[in-house]
Amino acid sequence: MCGIVGYIGEKDATPIVLNGLKKLEYRGYDSAGLAVLENGHIEVRRDAGKLERLAALVQESPLHGQVGIGHTRWATHGEPNAGNAHPHLGMTGDVVIVHNGIVENYLELKEELKEKGAVFTSETDTEVIVHLIERSLMTGKTLEEAIRCALLRLRGAHGIVVLSKDEPDKIIAARIGNAGGVVIGMGDGEMYIASDLPAILEHTRKMVFLESRQMAVVTRAGARISTLEGEPIPYEVQTISWDPVSAEKGEYRHFMRKEIHEQVRSLTDTIAGRVDFDHGRINLPKLNLTPALAQRIERIYIIACGTAAYAGMVGKVLIERIARVPVEVDIGSEFRYRDPIINENTAVLAISQSGETADTLAAMEEAREKGAVLWAIVNAIGSQAMRLADGFISMQVGPEIGVASTKAYTAPLVDLYMLAIHLAEQRGEINEWERKGLVSDLRLVPDLAGRCLDREGEVEIVAQALVEARSALYLGRGVNMPTAYEGALKLKEISYIHAEGYPAGEMKHGPIALIDGDIPVVVIAPQDPWYEKMFSQIEQAKARGGQVIAVATEGDKRISAAADHVLWVPETPWMLSPVTTVIPLQMLAYHIAALRGLDIDQPRNLAKSVTVE
Ligand code: G6P
Repeated sequence: MCGIVGYIGEKDATPIVLNGLKKLEYRGYDSAGLAVLENGHIEVRRDAGKLERLAALVQESPLHGQVGIGHTRWATHGEPNAGNAHPHLGMTGDVVIVHNGIVENYLELKEELKEKGAVFTSETDTEVIVHLIERSLMTGKTLEEAIRCALLRLRGAHGIVVLSKDEPDKIIAARIGNAGGVVIGMGDGEMYIASDLPAILEHTRKMVFLESRQMAVVTRAGARISTLEGEPIPYEVQTISWDPVSAEKGEYRHFMRKEIHEQVRSLTDTIAGRVDFDHGRINLPKLNLTPALAQRIERIYIIACGTAAYAGMVGKVLIERIARVPVEVDIGSEFRYRDPIINENTAVLAISQSGETADTLAAMEEAREKGAVLWAIVNAIGSQAMRLADGFISMQVGPEIGVASTKAYTAPLVDLYMLAIHLAEQRGEINEWERKGLVSDLRLVPDLAGRCLDREGEVEIVAQALVEARSALYLGRGVNMPTAYEGALKLKEISYIHAEGYPAGEMKHGPIALIDGDIPVVVIAPQDPWYEKMFSQIEQAKARGGQVIAVATEGDKRISAAADHVLWVPETPWMLSPVTTVIPLQMLAYHIAALRGLDIDQPRNLAKSVTVE
């Protein structure tokens, strides 16, 4: 959840670290800090609040040096104040650390360290790590050995970066488990370290990703990687093709709006190279799906969290309908503790934008232990989910910065559609004519998304009508039931308006009691197989004085007569309709939040990648 950046080279580390942190601010933003080696000692600046506060502090009291580390925090232990912000110095002031993760046994370690005379200055769990390192250094160990000893005592998952004044020509980084990534950027006579690619992409595209239980000693000349036990490990340098400019806001006020508008491109890239329109075939080579494997699979579990789980719910409808394989969708945090029934004929498909959500990764590990085939649909290249999986589909949407996910919701919808067709073909569940029809519909997707975006002005007008709402109900059915969940999630995440998504058929079993003149009811009613049922929902809501906002297919006169407001979407083949119906809902949430003057890209209490349980 927190963001980490490090630099060692010949340039001034401060602006490089601050700039990198800026790119990661979406990850955690309740406090921030940096440490620089300046004339043989460690200088730290840190403060509560957003990065601007830290930048102002650095301006008032500058610090310069060629080696530095920084951190943006999402508080877990201790409130977000300056004292709890990272980096954390030890008692001698000679060693400093930034950390991502939770030290699960920190209370017992803290007690032990206190007994040995350690004085703690923060409420964080992180501080125990720096004290442990310091204690080992006192016994004459090298920095590398001392870090190893400290890390071997920690329970939980961690990413750490350490700097010492006594070994000024190196930064040491390590990773244990899935508390987010550690990536090392290879420059020329300079090296970068980060928790995420966007922080350092503008400097280099040559990256090395640390695996769990690996440690890197990074000098100006390069990196040496070993296991936590000290065994040297050869590593592979990957070249990342993401365009660093794509992680900038450009003409947009918020990343979220930029990312909503990027969906034409991201959906084009999702399809590009994967669809053979002539033969009606889908090409997903990284999934490693053979006909023998496809035929063996008896059941699929889709596991994910948040928005990704809603994409998975659409996937359930598509895979069951097209490939005729039973699918269950499970939230990562539930699946991991449920002792699910899995064997080697079960495929577990994780969906994750970041590829590092702790609950999703833990669920994948549970599945691996039980012998399942492990697949992933992931955006972040080189992420843990991608590496854990036996086969994957990469989302092709580029970096997503806005905390409220948008383009990383629509891309997996298309990935799941393609997966369903591919699976159906390999299992012999679909004839050539059906397959060609489904594949051919894919070519429509980018343009249909673009036509939704063209209607942003109309959505803005509806947003004005809803800006004062205190609560909203979203109803959907069938393939668009998850659209209701996702629409409601978008609204609550960024506008702080309470919103509930509901399967429309369940309305009569409870939520209908909420309907009065004050509560907007958003009804997702495109021309799909559930249309008539959804139309009667509109009538039921109207009969009780509800204010109805319908998402409907262009030209639907029945709906325009019945609803108070309509968010129009172009006619879309029903299995792909969740791609279009969600776009006006993303824009609606965005404009309501913008009208309310809220911090859209960094909504309160949320984080982009949730690397803690
Ligand atoms: C957080 C984000 C959500 C995201 C969820 C899962 O809650 O705020 O936008 O959907 O994590 O993240 P993942 O990276 O696994 O897709």
